[in-house]
Amino acid sequence: MGKKAELHYEGKVFEIPVVTGSENENALDISKLRGESGLITLDRGFKNTGSTQSAITFLNGEEGILRYRGYSIEELAEKSSFLEVSFLLIYGELPTQQELDKFTKDISEHSLVHEDVKSILDGYPSKAHPMGVLSSLVSALTAFYPKSLDPNRSKEQINGTIIRFIAKLPTLAAWSFKNRMRQPIMYPKNKLNYTSNFLHMMFGLPTQDTEINPVVAKALDKLLILHADHEQNCSASTVRIVGSSHASLYASVSAGIAALWGPLHGGANQAVIEMLEEIKADGGDVDKYVAKAKDKSDPFRLMGFGHRVYKNFDPRATIIKKAADDVLRELGIEDPVLDIAMKLEKVALEDEYFKVRGLYPNVDFYSGIIYRALGIPTDMFTVMFAIGRLPGWISQWKEMRENNEPIGRPRQVYTGATERAYVGMENR
Ligand code: ACO
Repeated sequence: MGKKAELHYEGKVFEIPVVTGSENENALDISKLRGESGLITLDRGFKNTGSTQSAITFLNGEEGILRYRGYSIEELAEKSSFLEVSFLLIYGELPTQQELDKFTKDISEHSLVHEDVKSILDGYPSKAHPMGVLSSLVSALTAFYPKSLDPNRSKEQINGTIIRFIAKLPTLAAWSFKNRMRQPIMYPKNKLNYTSNFLHMMFGLPTQDTEINPVVAKALDKLLILHADHEQNCSASTVRIVGSSHASLYASVSAGIAALWGPLHGGANQAVIEMLEEIKADGGDVDKYVAKAKDKSDPFRLMGFGHRVYKNFDPRATIIKKAADDVLRELGIEDPVLDIAMKLEKVALEDEYFKVRGLYPNVDFYSGIIYRALGIPTDMFTVMFAIGRLPGWISQWKEMRENNEPIGRPRQVYTGATERAYVGMENR
């Protein structure tokens, strides 16, 4: 006998089954509630609603635990590589050496994009934000691979789309940057590893050989691992909900990129640096900005602080903070914005307002600092996040399709006008 809860409503008792996950998390399964009682549940922003059962990523916000397929983020960040983690997320197990070699080779051999992509890029103004360009270029992949439109193709065919996607995203991302800089695009080089190839396409110029700094490539690889998945966050939920209508993988992820772009989600990494720059330009008065963040009549929030799920600390932030220190030391960079970040962190962590609400620096508080040190321009920060999150979006989409999940379609409590007669123009 499984666990059950009871709902007492208008003199009747309704039994609600309790679903228990592998980490002993319990959820009320209310899927039949409306049929039996006429009631729906209301949970704006899905603050307390599980949208699915998933075997990909586990996180416990109270204890600061994050695991991909059971492996701790700390261990993966230290010992693994981004492509190995991508394989783990998408196929469920760590690859053997042979599997990883094949996966890596397949990806490196598909990194080129169709030449016609260049003419699409030419149509964008140079000021176009690279996230908007990336989202539309990902959607445009459906034009070059029309068969990918069918999400019910064979496992092998879906896998081909997945490999192509991981291979081409860095190329599209780097080209969207080159377009913004009005520099010639750089073609991928198959002999380079995933992150080095990306750096080559970003910073390379046809007039000179690109030197890839291994410290930079390693730090970037670690950042990509830390961003690779985060269970049912805003963009992953978007990917799943778009894919639930049987939209293609490219179309679903294009929507996920748009969701990630917002400053309350992945766009926070860009917003953090812009905020720190603003504080610096305004004389570095950290207390003033902390007061603004606490003032409910002021829309300002401390970007990079707070998280829907983590209320103690964000384990990714702890790893990134250390990585940021290492990179800055290794590259000999002294960044005045970093001093402001450290001051802000200290003031906020000691402040009652932030303590009571469980507001701690999140992954984006430090990722912007490290991207800056790696020479990545501010409006490319969220693009970096998107490259890292791609295996997560793919695995969420794949799981949803393999479990044949129904179309995502929430209900609502209607609060508008009740039925009324049409009013002619002369009487308005
Ligand atoms: N600065 C000041 N106050 C904050 C902040 C902040 N950064 N974040 C939350 N609060 C306050 C809210 O005003 C609210 O206060 P109240 O209880 O007095 O009304 C309380 O803390 C709870 O905040 P909510 O907005 O209800 O929390 P929610 O879970 O909906 O939002 C979010 C989480 C969006 C991350 C929020 O903390 C935020 O806006 N942070 C800044 C943006 C950011 O860094 N986003 C990146 C998140 S990580 C990621 O997506 C990869």
